[in-house]
Amino acid sequence: MCEVSSAGAVDLSVKIGAVRPRNPILAASGTFGYGTEFSHLVNLNRLGGFVTKGLSKEPIEGAPAPRLCETAAGMLNAVGLQNMGVRAFVAEKLPVLRKYDTAVVANVFGYALEDYVEVLRVLEDAEGPAAYELNISCPNVKKGGLQFGSDPGMAAEVVAAARKIAAKRPLWVKLSPLVTDIGVIGRAVEEAGADALTVANTYPAMAVDHRTGKSRLGNPTGGLSGPAIKPITLRLVWEAAKAVKIPVIGLGGIETVEDVLEYLSVGAVAVQVGTASFTDPRASEGLVRGLLRATFRHKVFTVSELSHKFMVENG
Ligand SMILES: Cc1cc2nc3c(=O)[nH]c(=O)nc-3n(C[C@H](O)[C@H](O)[C@H](O)COP(=O)(O)O)c2cc1C
Repeated sequence: MCEVSSAGAVDLSVKIGAVRPRNPILAASGTFGYGTEFSHLVNLNRLGGFVTKGLSKEPIEGAPAPRLCETAAGMLNAVGLQNMGVRAFVAEKLPVLRKYDTAVVANVFGYALEDYVEVLRVLEDAEGPAAYELNISCPNVKKGGLQFGSDPGMAAEVVAAARKIAAKRPLWVKLSPLVTDIGVIGRAVEEAGADALTVANTYPAMAVDHRTGKSRLGNPTGGLSGPAIKPITLRLVWEAAKAVKIPVIGLGGIETVEDVLEYLSVGAVAVQVGTASFTDPRASEGLVRGLLRATFRHKVFTVSELSHKFMVENG
């Protein structure tokens, strides 16, 4: 879709494989609820789209409070993947979301291969989602709790199983940042049938109160997000984009339009906005306006022209 201004027709739309969001700004999983919670504050139709809270086979109550704590330039969370379960999502949320003209991406997770397959089976029968995003930063309980996403073999196995079920829609795979070589995992996942990579999830971390000797979260550890992680994830996106042919979506610490341009310049085709929505629920919509202004400033008419202007040498 085109945004028209005095500068002419600017087209912010991007291609993430078969998905064509109207702009490259999507709200990230776990930070934007099921979208409906934000609809009184954000014009969902202005966003490229949003990714739902992670969906599991059965509802999950989640971790004990406190679930969030602020850290220098970031935030720790231990939500415990609380969600209403995929069936309730399909029955209660999708009918409302279908009224919006925005890409709704269903984030899927599990603790065994069969969990992912079951969630996708339910989603395949439903109308509404534009794509699936597999969160593979989860412990595989059948393999001693090792994260699916930290081992190329396990990552490929879960993606191949998901690919068999996910016939209707593109399959995005959200990688864990906790890997030795993101290129190896990215290629394994690409070969197993992923249509795009989302790079990356939060970083395992902890915060303690030395006076009590207790964690500042209800759980001993949590996931670090926000500006603190941006330089680290930026490198992962750069490495991943060099390693694979499928599109890479970048996220980690994005707050400003300059952050968006940095991710685009290292090879991301689109970005997601997570923690920034906690400080300003309208952050993602603001970034769309900022990106539009950036095209005027740089006298370009498309996002790819803008990206090419800043493309980092892939040396
Ligand atoms: C409170 C919270 C909950 C999250 N829940 C999920 C989730 O359910 N599934 C998922 O794939 N990522 C989840 N994430 C990770 C974010 O989508 C994102 O990858 C991460 O926060 C880095 O981006 P940011 O620095 O912009 O927040 C969550 C993050 C936060 C802060």
